[in-house]
Amino acid sequence: MKTRGQETILKLPKFCLVTLIGVTGSGKTTFARKHFHPLEILTSDSFRAVVSNDENSMEASQDAFEVLHLILQKRLSRNLLTVIDATSIQSFARRKILDIAGEIGAPTVAIILNVPEKTCIERTLQRTDRPFGAKVVREHFEFLRQTLTSIYTEGFDLVYILEGVEIISNTRLDFVDEPIEHQGDVRRELRGDIKEIDTRY
Ligand code: GTP
Ligand code: MG
Repeated sequence: MKTRGQETILKLPKFCLVTLIGVTGSGKTTFARKHFHPLEILTSDSFRAVVSNDENSMEASQDAFEVLHLILQKRLSRNLLTVIDATSIQSFARRKILDIAGEIGAPTVAIILNVPEKTCIERTLQRTDRPFGAKVVREHFEFLRQTLTSIYTEGFDLVYILEGVEIISNTRLDFVDEPIEHQGDVRRELRGDIKEIDTRY
């Protein structure tokens, strides 16, 4: 990850699994639509809607993720870059997609959108497409805090943590042919508020 002026540039392999991680309202779907082709994005809400007619039906999560995981496996088997747009704040959810990518040998990238709790609550309360209140956002933050301590050892090849709204909106993705390069250090902090790690070595 590089910062050039106001811009943050994330290097990603042209073929990889991208897991967006963030609480509700952190901007995952917005980020995915800005940076990726619609066919590359697997959004959990869309699969909840497909299996239950209700994108907010948490009861439908198991069926929704079964379908999502099947399509993920099919796409990665064809060497197609695929983005998971789900909260992925719980380790079991990340474990499952890492297992699928691992069986295929797909490089894995995690991008954490770490937006202040207050901002996420404000956004969520304004949304007409979500029935969630502040309590749900706070619960999600508990999981996010755990994620931030465990993410480095879970098996992702590359982890990017984007801290704050400004950095997220000024991020550009740079898709590269070469495999993820060895960064040397186990963990590098390029700027106080941006963290990157190559966890493969
Ligand atoms: P869930 O699907 O509920 O997990 O949320 P999400 O992480 O996908 O968030 P989403 O991208 O849907 O954004 C939530 C709300 O915040 C939407 O109303 C967006 O329009 C708004 N939003 C997202 N990113 C930004 C941003 O950079 N600036 C502003 N002002 N609003 C944003
Ligand atoms: Mg979303």
